[in-house]
Amino acid sequence: MEEQTPILNLNRIKGGGGGIRRPLWVSVLILFTVIALFSLHINREYSIFSIPLDFISGRVGLVSGYQQKSCSDFFKQVPARKVVKSIRDFGGIGDGKTSNTKAFQRAMEFMARFTESGGSQLVVPKGRWLTGSFNLTSNFTLFLEYGAVILGSQDPNEWPIIDALPSYGRGRERLGARHISLIHGNGLTNVVITGENGTVDGQGKMWWDLWWNRTLVHTRGHLVELINSQNILIQNLTLMNSPFWTIHPIYCRFLLS
Ligand SMILES: *[C@@H]1O[C@H](CO)[C@@H](O)[C@H](O)[C@H]1NC(C)=O
Ligand SMILES: *[C@@H]1O[C@H](CO)[C@@H](O)[C@H](O)[C@H]1NC(C)=O
Ligand SMILES: *[C@@H]1O[C@H](CO)[C@@H](O)[C@H](O)[C@H]1NC(C)=O
Ligand SMILES: *[C@@H]1O[C@H](CO)[C@@H](O)[C@H](O)[C@H]1NC(C)=O
Ligand SMILES: *[C@@H]1O[C@H](CO)[C@@H](O)[C@H](O)[C@H]1NC(C)=O
Repeated sequence: MEEQTPILNLNRIKGGGGGIRRPLWVSVLILFTVIALFSLHINREYSIFSIPLDFISGRVGLVSGYQQKSCSDFFKQVPARKVVKSIRDFGGIGDGKTSNTKAFQRAMEFMARFTESGGSQLVVPKGRWLTGSFNLTSNFTLFLEYGAVILGSQDPNEWPIIDALPSYGRGRERLGARHISLIHGNGLTNVVITGENGTVDGQGKMWWDLWWNRTLVHTRGHLVELINSQNILIQNLTLMNSPFWTIHPIYCRFLLS
């Protein structure tokens, strides 16, 4: 009498009610939801669930230590940075044609020197700044002035190949490694991407074409990707025409936009 199959159990619950009715039904529902979401995650190349799911999978990789104050507390005041430089200081040319990849990379190398001594801000003035991928640093602000547009390079080599995410074990679209994102960050704390309604335009059409005409070799990069990072604020700018997902936070906490 005590040993019953799950089906019998369910029948009994339907008929009899009582305290255990809800928990069992809830468990069954959750189980089905998890299975459904999981298979969507695996099978669908494009999915409106993509970003929430990455938050879910991101949670698995979270480090412990929730005692820290929340992001909105952290950013009650937009942090001032000790060193402020313009992309022009690094040889940048905002004509929409010249590649600024080297300028952005030089700038970020310089900015990274101040992570432990007051932080830094890179200003992108009005203009059209064509660039390949560059990496952010901690205690850093990327500030797009009014009329500033960062344009994603149309040369796939300017979106170099990086390792697949550990929780995927492969590129999402193609096996193996994947293209880096235009604006990329790994292991960062206290990053602000903001400005006076400037724009990051990934010019992603080329990538979507490569995908749809089946000539894409490696999984596409995102417009902005942050891995293993915390206290991130993205505000007062326009992000458009991403090659893939627009903002891809993974294994992150305290991200505000
Ligand atoms: C960022 O700045 C804070 C305050 O100055 C400092 O405590 C922290 O170590 C810095 N973070 C990094 C990654 O250098
Ligand atoms: C940016 O970081 C990735 C690893 O996260 C690295 O593979 C890549 O070389 C870095 N790019 C630059 C320009 O430093
Ligand atoms: C911000 O920029 C977007 C596109 O660049 C534009 O549609 C929008 O009107 C701008 N908003 C303001 C307040 O200037
Ligand atoms: C696929 O799209 C890319 C990007 O637009 C283009 O360069 C390439 O020629 C296309 N290939 C085919 C086979 O249509
Ligand atoms: C975004 O703009 C609002 C309104 O001007 C301002 O209060 C806020 O501090 C800005 N955010 C950042 C990160 O500067």
